[in-house]
Amino acid sequence: MILLMGLGLLYGCDPGTRHRVLSTVFDGVPAPPNPDDICADYGDTKKSTALQGEGEGPAVTGSNHKPYTEKRCSDCHAQSKTENGGLIHPRQELCLVCHDTIISGTFVHGPVAVGDCLACHLPHSSSNLFLLRQQPEKICQSCHREERLAATMHQKVSDRSMACGDCHDPHSGQARYFLR
Ligand code: HEC
Ligand code: HEC
Ligand code: HEC
Ligand code: HEC
Ligand code: HEC
Repeated sequence: MILLMGLGLLYGCDPGTRHRVLSTVFDGVPAPPNPDDICADYGDTKKSTALQGEGEGPAVTGSNHKPYTEKRCSDCHAQSKTENGGLIHPRQELCLVCHDTIISGTFVHGPVAVGDCLACHLPHSSSNLFLLRQQPEKICQSCHREERLAATMHQKVSDRSMACGDCHDPHSGQARYFLR
C-alpha cells in the first residue's frame, strides 16, 4: 500500500492532464487520433470473453503460480528475513528475473516500468485469472479515476461492458497507450 501511494506521488494518476499540458507546451506532441476512427464497431465485433472465462470451454476461475504450486519457495524467498525483506531479490526486480520478456515495446506502463508487478498481481495464487489482485474489469479503475481525454469513446466502450484489457496491453507496447 505504501509503495502504491509512493507511485501516485511520483507519477500522479492523471495522464489526461499531463497529455493536455504537454500538447499545449510542445508542438511536437501529436493530437490524439479520432477514437471513432479506431474504435468504430469495435465493441460489436470483439467481446471481452477471454479474461472472463466465458466462451468456449469450461468457465475458468482462479489461478496458481507455477513455482508456488511446485513448492519452489526458495526461487523467491531468502534464508534470512533481513535480505530484501525476506526475498532473494529486491521486490522491484524479483518478477523480472523470470519474466524478462514482459516489457517489450517503446511505451511502458507506469507501474510496470518501476517493477511494481505486485500492484496488480499476487505472488502465490488468486481467485482471479493471471494471479490478478482484482477482477480484470475492475483492476484498471483502482488507479485510473482521472478524467479521460477520450472520455466519450471510453464511456461508449464501458456501456458495452468491454474490459480495458481488450484494447490496452497492461504492461507495454509498440503503440501509444499500449494499444493492442
Ligand atoms: C514467485 C515468487 C514466490 C514464490 C515461488 C513463493 N513466494 Fe511467498 N511471497 C512472494 C512475495 C513477493 C511475497 C511478498 C508479498 C507482498 O509483500 O505483498 C511473498 C510472501 C510470502 C509470505 C508472507 C505472507 C503472505 O502470504 O503475504 C509467506 C508466509 C510466503 N510468501 C510463503 C511462501 C511459501 C511457503 C512458498 C512455497 C510454497 C512461497 N511463498 C513461494 C513470492 C513468492
Ligand atoms: C522462478 C521463476 C519465477 C519468478 C521469480 C516469477 N515467476 Fe511468474 N511464472 C513463472 C512460471 C514458470 C510461470 C508459468 C509459465 C507458463 O506456464 O508458461 C509463471 C507464470 C506467471 C503468471 C501467469 C499466471 C497464469 O495464471 O497464467 C503471472 C501473472 C506471473 N507469473 C507473475 C509473476 C509475478 C508478479 C512475479 C513476482 C512476484 C513472478 N511471476 C515471479 C516463473 C516465475
Ligand atoms: C496494471 C496492472 C498490471 C501490472 C502493474 C502488471 N501486470 Fe501482469 N498482467 C496484468 C493483466 C490485466 C494481465 C492479464 C492478461 C492481459 O490482459 O494481457 C496480466 C498478465 C500477466 C502475465 C501472463 C500473461 C502474459 O502476458 O505472459 C504475466 C507473466 C505477467 N502479467 C507478469 C507481470 C510482471 C512480471 C509484472 C511486473 C514487471 C506485471 N505483470 C505487472 C496486469 C498487470
Ligand atoms: C497501480 C496503479 C495502476 C493500475 C492498477 C493501472 N495503472 Fe495505468 N498508469 C498508472 C501510472 C502511475 C501511469 C503513468 C501516468 C503518467 O505517466 O502520467 C499509468 C499510465 C497509463 C496509460 C498511459 C497514459 C498516458 O497518457 O500515457 C494507460 C493507457 C494506462 N495507464 C492504462 C491502464 C490500464 C488499461 C490498466 C489496467 C490493465 C491500468 N492502466 C492499471 C498506474 C496504474
Ligand atoms: C475500445 C477500445 C478501448 C477500451 C475498451 C479502453 N480504451 Fe483506453 N484508449 C483507447 C484508445 C483508442 C485511446 C487513445 C485515444 C486518443 O488518442 O485520444 C485510449 C486512451 C486511453 C488513455 C490515455 C488517454 C486518455 O484518454 O486519458 C488511458 C489512461 C486509457 N485509455 C485508459 C483506459 C481504461 C482505464 C480503460 C477501461 C476502463 C480503457 N482505457 C478502455 C481505447 C480503449
